[in-house]
Amino acid sequence: MANSWKRIVLVGFLAVCLSFAPVDCDEGTILLELKKSFRDVDNVLYDWTDSSSSDCCVWRGVTCDNVTFNVVALNLSNLNLDGEISPAIGQLKALISMDLSFNELYGDIPFSISKLKQLENLILKNNQLIGPIPSTLSQIPNLKIFDVRNNSLSGSIPENIGNCTAFQVLSLQSNRFSGQIPSVIGLMQALAVLDLSGNMLSGTIPPILGNLTYTEKLNVANNHLEGRIPDNLSSCTNLNSLNLSSNNLKGPIPIELSRIGNLDTLDLSNNRISGHMPSSIGDLEHLLKLNLSNNDLTGFIPAEFGNLRSVMDIDLSNNHLSGPIPQELGQLQNVFLLKLENNSISGDVMSLASCLSLTLLNVSYNNLAGYIPTGNNFSRFSPDSFLGNPGLCGYWLKSSCYARRPSDRVTISKAAILGIALGGLVILLMILIAVWRPHNQKPFIEGTLDKPVCYKPPKLVILNMNMALHVYEDIMRMTENLSEKYIIGYGASSTVYKCVLKNCKPVAVKKLYSHYPHCLKEFETELETVGSIKHRNLVSLQGYSLSPSGNLLFYDYMENGSLWDLLHGTYTKKKKLDWETRLSIAFGAAQGLAYLHHDCSPRIIHRDVKSSNILLDKDYEAHLTDFGIAKSLCASKTHTSTYVIGTIGYIDPEYARTSRLTEKSDVYSYGVVLLELLTGKKAIDNESNLHHLILTKAANNAVMDTVDPEISKHAKTSEK
Ligand SMILES: *[C@@H]1O[C@H](CO)[C@@H](O)[C@H](O)[C@H]1NC(C)=O
Ligand SMILES: *[C@@H]1O[C@H](CO)[C@@H](O)[C@H](O)[C@H]1NC(C)=O
Ligand SMILES: *[C@@H]1O[C@H](CO)[C@@H](O)[C@H](O)[C@H]1NC(C)=O
Ligand SMILES: *[C@@H]1O[C@H](CO)[C@@H](O)[C@H](O)[C@H]1NC(C)=O
Ligand SMILES: *[C@@H]1O[C@H](CO)[C@@H](O)[C@H](O)[C@H]1NC(C)=O
Ligand SMILES: *[C@@H]1O[C@H](CO)[C@@H](O)[C@H](O)[C@H]1NC(C)=O
Ligand SMILES: *[C@@H]1O[C@H](CO)[C@@H](O)[C@H](O)[C@H]1NC(C)=O
Ligand SMILES: *[C@@H]1O[C@H](CO)[C@@H](O)[C@H](O)[C@H]1NC(C)=O
Ligand SMILES: *[C@@H]1O[C@H](CO)[C@@H](O)[C@H](O)[C@H]1NC(C)=O
Ligand SMILES: *[C@@H]1O[C@H](CO)[C@@H](O)[C@H](O)[C@H]1NC(C)=O
Ligand SMILES: *[C@@H]1O[C@H](CO)[C@@H](O)[C@H](O)[C@H]1NC(C)=O
Repeated sequence: MANSWKRIVLVGFLAVCLSFAPVDCDEGTILLELKKSFRDVDNVLYDWTDSSSSDCCVWRGVTCDNVTFNVVALNLSNLNLDGEISPAIGQLKALISMDLSFNELYGDIPFSISKLKQLENLILKNNQLIGPIPSTLSQIPNLKIFDVRNNSLSGSIPENIGNCTAFQVLSLQSNRFSGQIPSVIGLMQALAVLDLSGNMLSGTIPPILGNLTYTEKLNVANNHLEGRIPDNLSSCTNLNSLNLSSNNLKGPIPIELSRIGNLDTLDLSNNRISGHMPSSIGDLEHLLKLNLSNNDLTGFIPAEFGNLRSVMDIDLSNNHLSGPIPQELGQLQNVFLLKLENNSISGDVMSLASCLSLTLLNVSYNNLAGYIPTGNNFSRFSPDSFLGNPGLCGYWLKSSCYARRPSDRVTISKAAILGIALGGLVILLMILIAVWRPHNQKPFIEGTLDKPVCYKPPKLVILNMNMALHVYEDIMRMTENLSEKYIIGYGASSTVYKCVLKNCKPVAVKKLYSHYPHCLKEFETELETVGSIKHRNLVSLQGYSLSPSGNLLFYDYMENGSLWDLLHGTYTKKKKLDWETRLSIAFGAAQGLAYLHHDCSPRIIHRDVKSSNILLDKDYEAHLTDFGIAKSLCASKTHTSTYVIGTIGYIDPEYARTSRLTEKSDVYSYGVVLLELLTGKKAIDNESNLHHLILTKAANNAVMDTVDPEISKHAKTSEK
């Protein structure tokens, strides 16, 4: 009984309490004041209303404390708000975090924010705020994050900011702050990020910044700072990133910087820093990015850079560095970008061939010499990576060396060899003298030798005197490094270019798709055999060049292209062939084939007789091409001898079934070519097989229907 009335009283008391309880949020009027100063372009603050039932703690962007119902956080980031920040903000006494970033707010930061004694985060970045940082900022005792980057704030950084010892992040970048960096910043011991970049700060970097032992990121780039880099910065032992780029700093790089063991980014670029690069930089084993470009650095690249095992980007461009690229740089297995352009670096670039991750390289405008390696990624670097190094050679460089290779297999007399040897000796002596001469910064590049010294050039083997006066570089030059302009055809295994040589007949350059052959010796033997075969109905192999950078075969050039083009080619290539011409083509091809089968020793089976392998010279005389090497090209794909080589539509069904190859397979393919000549149809067209078509027609006694109208028309006119 007593219990039940107690319960009624309790429930009634609660009911009364609830009905008379104040509206949870009593700071609604302050927030509405704030809303008034914004222009709410997208009406995102529509729920901010003064209706009595409205609880401001549920308004967009508002967070209240669940006990006191005071507004503790205001986040109106990225809501397209226009207008100014109302000084009423200072009345939100319990505010801990305010984020108004990414809006269009303009006007000053109100002084009243200094009344927000609980404030810890103040984020106003990416607006158009103007005016100074309120000097009263320092009265906010617990402010930790102050981020006003990318506004138009101006004036100097207030001296008393040093009182804000709780600051962890001070981001003032991309504003218009001027004056000096106040040394009191060195007293902000909790600072983890200090970014003052992109302002107009002047004066020197205060050495006391070295007291920022907890700072991880220090960026004062893009200002007007001058003087030397203070040695004391090396005391900032927790720094990950030090960015002093684009100022007017001069003097040397402090050797002690290497003590900042955690450094992953060091950017001192675009200053007037001079002296040698300290070898101690090699101790920064966590370094990922090093940018010392656009300075006045002199001396050698220290070999110790080879210890920067993690480094990905190295930019030393636009300095006065000399000496060679140290061998040790080859140890850098993570380096992705290496920029050394516009220095006076000498020696060769061979050591870089072992940097397997290297993707962006620029060594232009130095004094480099020697041959550009072709392995790894090197062949993919554009010639723009090597500009302005007169001594550097690579077959695809415009500035290549035209020195004749001893490997050119043009008969060289003993006297000539003696001459070359003597010449070499003289050159060697000259180099030695040049090297021993004191103060010679640019050994033997300019003047002493007119031809740069190259080694390991792609080998050009000449099999026919027609090309004998030419070297590899000539061909590259004349075809603009095998430019697309010169393509005359594509095959299953190659792209074919036309190259017009000086004082002799043009050649067709066939660039094989396959890689550097594994069994090089065998392939070369085979090529030499093929090169020795001469017949008026065969296309002669003039020479070849095998190198990891590309395998090229040089053939006689045939003016009238392939039979395939004449019969089935596009409008421009297609020609009307009369019966006599067709007959002589058939006859010529047969003679060529017969020569391969009967007069060569060992006998040669072509394996790929087809209309696109019958080329026509200027008199429409047929020449078979592509014989003798098909087997080698495919051998690398499969090691089984049962692999069927040939082209669909021409392959002998028996050979396809048994994989047993004889001359008869060539004859079958030749038969298909005859059908092509007769009908003007492709061997395979829309999956219909010419051989089957003829068989069907023959069964119906209608073979004559398939004859090319071009022939029948001609035959009729000649009948008349
Ligand atoms: C306020 O609510 C949150 C969860 O909503 C809770 O984690 C927190 O402890 C509450 N604070 C108080 C003081 O009750
Ligand atoms: C404010 O909200 C945005 C998302 O709208 C968020 O990215 C940002 O971190 C918030 N700011 C704070 C200080 O929590
Ligand atoms: C800076 O703010 C402007 C608009 O106020 C914006 O267009 C620009 O992208 C911002 N820049 C950065 C780096 O955020
Ligand atoms: C800075 O702090 C000192 C002592 O901690 C105090 O005397 C001084 O008034 C403060 N300055 C400002 C501008 O808050
Ligand atoms: C700079 O460092 C040296 C030694 O490390 C110290 O004696 C000197 O007081 C420091 N200077 C400043 C301004 O902190
Ligand atoms: C730098 O910090 C040390 C210890 O934190 C302190 O003793 C020294 O006075 C500070 N230097 C200056 C110039 O305030
Ligand atoms: C250094 O700071 C400038 C300006 O903020 C920036 O453009 C540059 O990328 C920074 N350097 C590095 C290596 O991050
Ligand atoms: C190095 O700094 C220069 C100038 O500040 C800049 O142009 C260049 O892009 C930077 N290099 C890299 C690799 O970021
Ligand atoms: C090369 O560097 C020098 C100074 O080191 C500079 O004056 C010149 O403009 C630079 N050239 C290029 C093409 O950047
Ligand atoms: C360079 O070579 C490496 C490994 O050999 C490869 O992963 C990378 O993709 C290559 N880069 C380019 C640009 O080809
Ligand atoms: C290398 O630097 C030179 C000089 O600055 C420039 O002309 C060339 O385009 C650069 N090459 C590459 C591949 O970036």
